[in-house]
Amino acid sequence: MTPDYDELHSRIRHLLEGEDDWVSAMATVACELHHSDDRFHWTGFYRVVSERMLAIGPYQGSHGCLRISFDRGVCGAAARTGETQLVEDVHAFEGHIACSVTTQSEIVVPVKDEEGEVFAVLDIDSDLPAAFDERDQEGLERICGWLGERYGR
Ligand code: SME
Repeated sequence: MTPDYDELHSRIRHLLEGEDDWVSAMATVACELHHSDDRFHWTGFYRVVSERMLAIGPYQGSHGCLRISFDRGVCGAAARTGETQLVEDVHAFEGHIACSVTTQSEIVVPVKDEEGEVFAVLDIDSDLPAAFDERDQEGLERICGWLGERYGR
């Protein structure tokens, strides 16, 4: 079932009130999102650490790949294009990185600073096929938009 993203967003804002540390924010958001919905089997962040390279950030779920370049995977596509990637079937996505063999679908939302530069991506993977829809996209983009404004360098 789709979580109440308004409620989630307001809880996240409340939890992060007065907290300006980005790692603490990512850890808190990953935890809050992950436990809000049974469809979310891996929930976490990748950070832009150098030109065209992502490194894993705080996450919940099983082991995630440590580094992803911008030209690989769904996370790389989100970082490269600055656009949300909603993937119903990861096996049909050219260059998908199979960190977990059970992953069937995923959504990756970029987090942008005030200049519109991507500095992180939020990645949520599901073991269910076509688990995500536009309600998830809209809710997660709202939360990531707020994170970008609040924590963008
Ligand atoms: N599914 C991602 C890789 C990240 S891990 O699965 C946590 C991708 O293809 O970008």
